[in-house]
Amino acid sequence: PAAAPHTHEKREHWSGQTAFILAAIGSAVGLGNIWRFPGQAYENGGGAFMIPYLVALLTAGIPILFLEHAIGHRFRGSAPLAMKRVHRHAEGVGWLHVAICFVIGLYYTAIIAWALSYFFFSFSLSYQDDPAGFFLGDYLQLGEAGTVSLSFVPQVIIPLVAVWLITIVVLALGLHNGVERLNLIGIPVLVATFMVIVVRALFLDGAGDGIEALFTPDFAALGDPQVWIAAYGQIFFSLSLAYGIMITYASYRRRRSNITSPGLVVAFGNSSFELLAGIGVFAALGFLASQQGVAVGDLEGLAGPFLSFVTFPAVIAEMPGGQFFGALFFASLVLAGLTSLVSVLQVVSSALQDKLNLKPRTAAVAVGGVSAVLSIVGFGTTTGLYLLDTVDQWSNQLGIVAGAITMIAAAIWIGRRGHELERHLAAVSTLRPGKAWLWLVSAVALLLIYMFVDKAVSL
Ligand code: PHE
Repeated sequence: PAAAPHTHEKREHWSGQTAFILAAIGSAVGLGNIWRFPGQAYENGGGAFMIPYLVALLTAGIPILFLEHAIGHRFRGSAPLAMKRVHRHAEGVGWLHVAICFVIGLYYTAIIAWALSYFFFSFSLSYQDDPAGFFLGDYLQLGEAGTVSLSFVPQVIIPLVAVWLITIVVLALGLHNGVERLNLIGIPVLVATFMVIVVRALFLDGAGDGIEALFTPDFAALGDPQVWIAAYGQIFFSLSLAYGIMITYASYRRRRSNITSPGLVVAFGNSSFELLAGIGVFAALGFLASQQGVAVGDLEGLAGPFLSFVTFPAVIAEMPGGQFFGALFFASLVLAGLTSLVSVLQVVSSALQDKLNLKPRTAAVAVGGVSAVLSIVGFGTTTGLYLLDTVDQWSNQLGIVAGAITMIAAAIWIGRRGHELERHLAAVSTLRPGKAWLWLVSAVALLLIYMFVDKAVSL
């Protein structure tokens, strides 16, 4: 067996359990909750999607969250270091997580940068006349469909640089002064802002139709394996699982810490926010549909970037007080995005710190600097929107599934750390997951293998 885990002497610490919970919620609550979940739910059975979604949360989300927390906390390292301590040949699993996070950082920043621009556009409602034309033409400077020309787009590069600077500063300030403070302020502000938006949306004309469209169950969808795959995919993405994030964040907790209770708070907190976002988004869509005199289902652009940057601007332009609520909406996108982005880059930065013995500040500047340049070349240009989809498919649909399978295989099947991790979870925790937990994790891995093959064949 590998050497017993030992504490990295200079390792940083969260100031307490609340700080850890807020940071983990900050990572989980992100763009995925606001623009990914509503569309996924709508397309995959509406109200009936809640069933696979809850099943996925209970059977995969929470068990894998526990697994990552246990690995990070017991083996006290960034993803590669912790995985190496799990099994001497498993360091590569951690580097796979690092690679995925690195790639996600590149495009996640672009979306936050767009939201930052739209925050400012909201004050003058610049997008009101033709939201789609404004987004694709005026803002992203895309030419006619089919003509891809590579040129820099200054109005995207400026916010992109701003987002990178903020991120580098937060990471360079260190875990306590940077990451922890950002979440301590950011998460309560985000929740409050979003509540205001959702309550406002509920009072718009047609809100009820929108909510009905989201929740009307199509039970036939439950027989479709793709619906179940979508539910598991959403849970993984939304809880930031299998990216090494939870391993990294848990590695900064003090030695005797309760692991399961905070895990439950994070999991249910994230899903509550997600549900709230779904209700708010569809209430707003119901309003838009009623303004246009069409059914909610006939609206276009209900998912992905188009939901936030074309459909929402249309709602904002139509609603009373749109300037104010538009600014609030895009501010919350920026905030939700930043707290997730920081967690992604902390995975990369922390791995370099452990591997090369760097100080947090050096690692932050190195990782941020390289990523910033790459993301400007990739997303500060007219290729951005095209790249987004491809990168998302590879990293989020294939990459993390592979990241999860290899992590489970290394920890439980090959490394045989299952019982050790189970005892570790039980040691200080109020809730003892027991053997059933290990069986569940293995079963999830089998399901993931199926998902991986299914996706790989279709790509
Ligand atoms: N969990 C985040 C969200 O819901 C997305 C995310 C995934 C962030 C992976 C970081 C890493 O938006």
